Amino acid sequence: MKIERVTIVDDHIVRSFSRLIPQLTGSVKYPSREELEEVIKSENSYLFIATIDGEVTGSLTLLFNRLTTGLKGWIEDVVVDEAARGKGVATALIGHALKIAEENEVFHVDLTSQPVREAANRLYLKMGFTRRETNVYRYYFQ
Ligand SMILES: CC(C)(COP(=O)(O)OP(=O)(O)OC[C@H]1O[C@@H](n2cnc3c(N)ncnc32)[C@H](O)[C@@H]1OP(=O)(O)O)[C@@H](O)C(=O)NCCC(=O)NCCS
Repeated sequence: MKIERVTIVDDHIVRSFSRLIPQLTGSVKYPSREELEEVIKSENSYLFIATIDGEVTGSLTLLFNRLTTGLKGWIEDVVVDEAARGKGVATALIGHALKIAEENEVFHVDLTSQPVREAANRLYLKMGFTRRETNVYRYYFQ
């Protein structure tokens, strides 16, 4: 298994994300080539993929936020292809993201996960994340 940062959005990457993202969101919508390019262009976003035999089997995005309280890391959009689950792909992706975050001297790395995502919640606890008591708010436009 290889974990790497996406630096070029080619047809293979576009196709891979059109397969992966609906498995995360449960929606048929997936990112366009332009949207993927916007993600990798941002110097605060690291888009990582896991590949096995050249096939993209999983992905996550690591974000860096420079705030008045320090440099914080954030992990978003963790997803592994259904056919490749249970083989340590997410573990490898998160382990890699944490290593990069540590190298960048972030204060801590946050993520959120809905309780209904049992596999994800178990994975994060297993990897050493601790559950914090906080309320997560969202403001919707429209
Ligand atoms: C959550 C997810 C990313 C895990 O990916 P994965 O590559 O299968 O995970 P790993 O093989 O690295 O498993 C690591 C640990 O996660 C937990 N886990 C994985 N699959 C699980 C399942 N079906 N049920 C319960 N726990 C599970 C276990 O603790 C496991 O460790 P173990 O194998 O020693 O028991 C994957 O199931 C997925 O993409 N789910 C849909 C999208 C999603 O929920 N994303 C998270 C958004 S917050």
